[in-house]
Parts: sequence; structure tokens; C-alpha cells
Amino acid sequence: MNSLQDFQLKTEEEYREAYRKSVEQPAAFWSAIATTFRWKSPWTDVLSYDWSIPKTEWFIGGKLNITENCLDRHVETNPDKLALIWEPNDPNDATVHYTYQELLIAVCRFANGLKNQGVKKGDRVCLYMPMIPELTIALLACARIGAIHSVVFAGFSSSALATRINDAKCAVLITADGSFRGDKVIPLKAIADEALQTCPSIERCIVFQRTFQNVAWEEKRDIWWHDFIQGLSDTCIPTEMDAEDPLFILYTSGSTGQPKGMVHSCGGYMVYTAYTFLNVFQYQENDIYWCTADIGWITGHSYMVYGPLACGATSLHYEGIPSYPKWNRFWEICEKHKVNQFYTAPTAIRAIAQHPAKLIEDYDLSALKVLGSVGEPINEEAWSWYNEHIGGNKTPIVDTWWQTETGGILISSLAGVTPQKPTYATQPLPGIQAALVNTEGKVIIDQEAEGILTINHPWPGIARTIYGNHERYKATYFSAFEGRYFPGDGALRDAQGNYRITGRVDDVVIVSGHNLGTAPVENAINTHPSVVESAVVGFPHSIKGNALAAFVVLYDEVGASEEITSEISNEVRKQIGPIASPDRILVVAGLPKTRSGKIMRRILRKLAANEGEALGDISTLLNPEVVAQIKEVLAKE
Ligand code: WT7
Repeated sequence: MNSLQDFQLKTEEEYREAYRKSVEQPAAFWSAIATTFRWKSPWTDVLSYDWSIPKTEWFIGGKLNITENCLDRHVETNPDKLALIWEPNDPNDATVHYTYQELLIAVCRFANGLKNQGVKKGDRVCLYMPMIPELTIALLACARIGAIHSVVFAGFSSSALATRINDAKCAVLITADGSFRGDKVIPLKAIADEALQTCPSIERCIVFQRTFQNVAWEEKRDIWWHDFIQGLSDTCIPTEMDAEDPLFILYTSGSTGQPKGMVHSCGGYMVYTAYTFLNVFQYQENDIYWCTADIGWITGHSYMVYGPLACGATSLHYEGIPSYPKWNRFWEICEKHKVNQFYTAPTAIRAIAQHPAKLIEDYDLSALKVLGSVGEPINEEAWSWYNEHIGGNKTPIVDTWWQTETGGILISSLAGVTPQKPTYATQPLPGIQAALVNTEGKVIIDQEAEGILTINHPWPGIARTIYGNHERYKATYFSAFEGRYFPGDGALRDAQGNYRITGRVDDVVIVSGHNLGTAPVENAINTHPSVVESAVVGFPHSIKGNALAAFVVLYDEVGASEEITSEISNEVRKQIGPIASPDRILVVAGLPKTRSGKIMRRILRKLAANEGEALGDISTLLNPEVVAQIKEVLAKE
């Protein structure tokens, strides 16, 4: 029988051949790959889909448990291989290692605890945790018993956490007393307590002791992690799951206030993340792979946990931030663990590049074989810096384009195998049929073109629905262009067929690699009693890629004060989290509007980007005079 490793593409010809096969015979292509995994019973049909509903099903009728594929399989052949290497926030604290055997035991114990609580297949469990091994353990424990995990990034506020818990009606929350991030200690339990005041579905709150700070305690509801797993068996029979059963929910921002709970499947998601991990990063048996993301985002789910573990890889997780205790921390970790594949975000690269190169030169980075980038378009300058200073001008860089919704990478080069091109994500992976369309939805045939990126055939990793709102799933992704998945990004294509992602074409802004809807930020601002209305747009920022500018209209314009702007900023922090806090809050007399009353964000985007000279025709505006007023406000900034 084949192993997944037999599907690692080693030459450009092999890639082209695999790509051709994946387009001509998608079912045969993916079923050959899927066969290399452990299934409790085989599928009867590989693929069934109808994007007018929309519905996508892969490996229909197949039964499996993803944790058997991520853990048990490797324990049988290689129990002492390292699954996780964990670097704590403080470099003076000890590194923690988990072999596949140790990880399986920890997962089973915790899974047994969840079972004792009455958590069953299909129940939702929310995780609001620091970047510690227990997050991975809790995640996999949910998957072990078929509970649907919903990880909420631990930088989100209590009200953002509550919204997500309530949307999924989670029965259990797993959190920690606090979390260490650089020199800060974040009171996670206190934030969670506040959220839980408005979350009636939560019956249990399991608290891992990380910072040993004082916490409030609700006897009936709260239990310490260490008490929770006391005396439990270290084996747990994996629950049999249908390939199409939900594995997890992960929220992403949309263009309205309510976040979208993207639902990923057990079977297709596993096959897709493992295959793309193996090929994009060209992972080899004994490599040490490090992705610097947080498990609170899809990158962490797919390329720190499920993809690497399904391939039997060693995945390094780091608790802290790139600047702690100094801006050399990433390279210190790379040297210490002889990291072979390093995957990070352009915003981190740009922040690090601001600091002296000496902070890198002291470290031996010779083990690095692959560099990766994800989260937003990587600009030429950041690409060149990464290539030169970290890659020594010889290490392949994979610029990986994908989304929470896609489950895994859709467009990227394969490290060292297919050609790379600075600032281009390059070519679609096998199974991904990309096309550019114009605003009328007509496919652009010319090779060299710019347009809206769409995908016209399902791949196994695509999210199957938005939790509790299939209509919105249809409206957001499948209604813009009939028969096509619409990701919301624009792209350029060169003569060789390489794609360069040019950015969002909707009201979503990527700030420091985080996907932020402008609507939720506006909603938060508008709750301030002095605010009439507001409009939030992105503008180019040298480190964050984009930052947010908020144009705010007050009832009493003369009353504008620093106090009000800082209250507005606090409102955003409270309702969404610090990441959404606008860099600029501009009090203006009015917002440019169309005659139908729609705010013209396009104009505000230009103004915020200092391109006020090139506004084009504004005569269709209901109130063209506000543009001059806004320019005056900007001139005084
Ligand atoms: C949006 C998805 C994929 C995990 C992290 C973000 C932008 C992502 C790239 C890239 C250009 C990129 C897109 C996309 N994006 N990667 N390599 N080049 N843009 O996941 O929060 O769901 O955001 O991030 O605009 O639509 P996400």
C-alpha cells in the first residue's frame, strides 16, 4: 500500500502531472491520496457537490477519527518521535517535549475527562487559551470524542468571546488563569468570567493553571485542569466519525457585525491539510518545522496541529511574541532547535526588519531549508529582506495564499520544487482550479490579466457551511458568481500563470495578517453615545500592512476631544479586542454618501491613503462638500 509520502511531488514535472490529473480526474486523484490514511470503513463515493445549494461532500460514507491518523498511527511505528516541541515565553524556562506516545496519552486522559462530564459527539467546546501544549491537547481530545471544538483567539475581548460561545451554544469552556505574552500577563480567566455572565449554555469551565495568579471561582461551574484529569485512564477509544461530520468551528470576520463560524469536516480537511503540508513545505522525515502562528487562527489549526501531525512531523510551538525578551527571539529558537521549515507572516517580517541585522547575524540559521509567508500579500521589500537576511539568498520562500474558509493552502509554490516569484503566491496546488473573472462574472481568458479570483471546483478542505447560517454561506461565497467559490480577493496573473494577490475586494481589511471586517469595528464605535455614525477603512501601514482609520461623526462636532477618541478606541478594544483598535480616529463633519445613502468607503480609502488628489468623479455624491472638509481634518493630523 502507498503511504502519503509517496505523494510528495519532487520535481516541477511531477507537479504538472499531478495538477493535470487532479483536474481531469479529481475523484481518482484525491481518493488515491485519501487511501493512505486510516479509515474505519471506506467511502462509497469520493465526491458529490452542487454549488447552487451549495453542498460539497468528500469521501462519502467513510468513517474515521482524525486523532487516530494524527497520533495512534505514528505511535504504532514510531512512539518516541517528537510530536511537539514547546518553547515557553520566558527563554529561561525549560522547553517542553511531547513524543507521539506522550501526546496520545495526554489527549486520551483529557478526552476521558470530557466524556465524564457528559460531553458527547456533536457537542461544542470552546477553547480560550494561551499558546501552551494543553491547547493542542484539548483540541485533539475534543476530536477524539467527536466534540466540535471552537477555538477563540486569546487576544479577543470578553464580548467577542461571548458572541462566539453563544453562536455555537458551547457547553464547555476551556481556558487558563492567565497567559504570558512578552512582559505582559493577560488575565484570561477574568476575561472569560465576564463573558460567561452572558453565556447560559456553558455548564463547565476547565481552567489550566499557567500564571498562578489569583482568580475568581464559581464552585459549581469551574474546575482546575489538574483536578479534572486526576486518576483518569490514559487510553480512550476514538469515536467513529463520518467523513462529513464537523471537526471544528472557527470564526472569521465578515462584512457584517456577526462573525462567521466556518465549519470544517473530519475527512476532507484531514486529507487536504496533510497533503498540502507535505508538498508546500517539502517536509522530510526528521525535519523540525516551526509555524509562528497562534492556534487561535486557521494557520495554527491546519499547519501547527492537524497537517503536521497527520504527516507524523515534529511541530514546534512558541508561546510568546517575536520581540521578547529581545527582537532576536525567533532566531534564537531557530538555532536552538535547528529549525528546518519556518513559517511566519509578513507583518512579523516587517517588524523584525526594523531592528538591527546584528540581532540575526549572531545566530546559526543554516538548518533552514524552507521559509514560508502567510496572511496577507508580502511586499517586495519584506520579501527581499526575508530572502537575504533569513534565507541567505538561497532558501526557497513559499508565499501561501489561503483563508479560514479554504481549510488549507490553495495557491503557493512547492518549496524548491516549483518556481517562486517575489510577491507572487504563484500557481494553484493540485486540485485547485483557479480562474479570474471580471466584475460581470465573465471568465478572463487572457493569461496576463487582473481580475477577481475565483475557484470553480471543490477541493477536500473547503469549509462546508457557516455554523447555523447556511444562507449566509451561500450568499457570501457562492452567489457573487454562479458555480464559483468567491474568496473576496483580487489578483493579477502573469504570462506564466502565476498569481499575485492584490488584496480584498470587499469590506474586510487585513491588519497584521488578521482578517478584520470594518463593519464590526464601526458597530463598536457607534455604540459610543457621542457618535452619530462612522466609517472604517484600511490604509497602507509600513509594518502592519494595513491599519484602520475611523472617520467619525459626532453629535457635537465642537465637543471633539482626546477623551472622546480614547473612549472610542476603548470601546473597540472592549467589544472586539486590541487588534481592531484604529490607528487613526478622525472626527469629521460628515461622511461622503451616495444618493441612496450608502457610505462611499472608496473615497475614504483614497483620502486615508493620502491619495486625495486622485478621487475621480465625486459629482454623484449626495454631499460632495464633505470631501473638502475631510481633507482639512487630514491636513491637521
Ligand atoms: C485572507 C484570509 C490563511 C491563513 C491566515 C489568514 C489574505 C492570506 C495571503 C497571501 C496575499 C493573503 C487574503 C485572504 N491572505 N494569505 N499569501 N497573499 N493575501 O486567514 O484570516 O481567513 O484571511 O488573508 O486576503 O482572503 P484569514
